[in-house]
Amino acid sequence: MTKGTILYQGAEAKICKSKYMNYDVVEKRRINKSYRINEIDNKLIFSRTKEEAKLISEARMCGVSVPTIYDVDIEKGIITMSYLNGKRIKDILNDLSEKERARICKKIGESIAKFHNNDIIHGDITTSNMILMDDKIHFIDFGLGEKNSEIEAKGVDLHVLMDAIESTHSKYANCFNYVLEGYKKELKGNPNLVISKIEDIVKRGRYR
Ligand SMILES: Nc1ncnc2c1ncn2[C@@H]1O[C@H](COP(=O)(O)OP(=O)(O)O)[C@@H](O)[C@H]1O
Ligand SMILES: [Mg+2]
Repeated sequence: MTKGTILYQGAEAKICKSKYMNYDVVEKRRINKSYRINEIDNKLIFSRTKEEAKLISEARMCGVSVPTIYDVDIEKGIITMSYLNGKRIKDILNDLSEKERARICKKIGESIAKFHNNDIIHGDITTSNMILMDDKIHFIDFGLGEKNSEIEAKGVDLHVLMDAIESTHSKYANCFNYVLEGYKKELKGNPNLVISKIEDIVKRGRYR
């Protein structure tokens, strides 16, 4: 493994671009937070790394585009995965034509339904955590995710995206409706149960 260049430094993780065999990869390395007791911190890093790697693999088996995982080092808290040489949805969504934005948003909704059909909750569905490559929406960053079959959890998952779209793409906030269109098309069971949860969450927020 050659030492790579830092692509991103967040509060919880550092993303480095590197090479693994002959592949372009990123290493997502979780970092210690000094204000947490070290032992607790290490346990958290182990479990989040393991959980994230598991959810990425499971999402792939649901037909959702995700990075290919090459290696997981639980002890060090590193996931080595394919580098997605595409564009973050956050950076392109506002500049698309209305028609193209609608098409992309429907695809986003379809993908979310595919992992929700398998009780995978992403935990942080924002347009920073989606990369468009080869005309496919790739989902990254399952670090806050979990397995959960409850309607409530699915509603919360979608509500995070609704909020993200309203704040980051406020001019085009209507595009969340396209997300829901795609979601309805693909979800097994009754999507309106999830959608009415989103409405409940919005109402709760308003009267807080
Ligand atoms: N597999 C990948 N390919 C390309 N870029 C990536 C990949 N994984 C992460 N990134 C980049 O690094 C950023 C942070 O990664 P992410 O997993 O979302 O970490 P965090 O949990 O800190 O948000 C992403 O927004 C994206 O720009
Ligand atoms: Mg992220």
